[in-house]
Amino acid sequence: MLRITVLADERALARQEATRVADALKTKPDLVLGLPTGRTPVRLYHELGTLHSRGQVDFSRAMTFNLDEFFGIPPSHQGSYRTFMEQHLFSRVNMAPDRVHFLNGAAPDAEAECRRYEAAITAVGGIDLQLVGIGTNGHIGFNEPARELAGRTHRVTLKASTRRSNVALFGGELERVPIEALSMGMATILHARQVVLLATGKSKARCIERLVNGPLTPKLPASFLQLHRDVELVLDTAAAALLQDSQQLPAARS
Ligand code: PGA
Repeated sequence: MLRITVLADERALARQEATRVADALKTKPDLVLGLPTGRTPVRLYHELGTLHSRGQVDFSRAMTFNLDEFFGIPPSHQGSYRTFMEQHLFSRVNMAPDRVHFLNGAAPDAEAECRRYEAAITAVGGIDLQLVGIGTNGHIGFNEPARELAGRTHRVTLKASTRRSNVALFGGELERVPIEALSMGMATILHARQVVLLATGKSKARCIERLVNGPLTPKLPASFLQLHRDVELVLDTAAAALLQDSQQLPAARS
């Protein structure tokens, strides 16, 4: 079932979601987290760093799997999502390096790397809490709009718009943004026990409205979240703006 929470702004969203993660880790210290990159979760990751510095969250037994990674660059590359996660989260909390899982964008055999990742997720009993963002084209992870969606972790060619929105990671030079990536598939994501989608800003409002009210369609990969039993959309007022007419939304909290 799709639940919707609207918060006043990005700051309130970061605080609420950091508390969600901290509470989940108190309940289950060996929580398996699925994590996104992008601009949306940055404040949340910094907030978790703050909570950790106050002794209010413990990642020592947690495990993480990131949603996706660029293909054709090594993990140590300045533009890799691995580097992004180190910078914004892992360096700020007590994550054990051997409990962090990433797709390796420099793997010699992409298909074998995707199979390895699926097997690693299965081996730990699946993902407990999967956080996701949403692209302005409705993608989740790097599951881009297409005639059909890959179920499992796979190699993908990125849309021009997706490459443009990642240009800052590559010094503003579009030609340096990789053309391909490896990504969890929609079925991988839908197998997580709980999914929380975070979206802020008016550029996401149209996709959020289609996700909530529209049909299931591979043209909007996020629409498949409607199938999940435990999914929550956590939005700021700008991202929720087009829902106001069609949905009975709770008043925004700050
Ligand atoms: P963003 O990206 O958080 O930078 O908006 C989200 C996504 O593309 O999944």
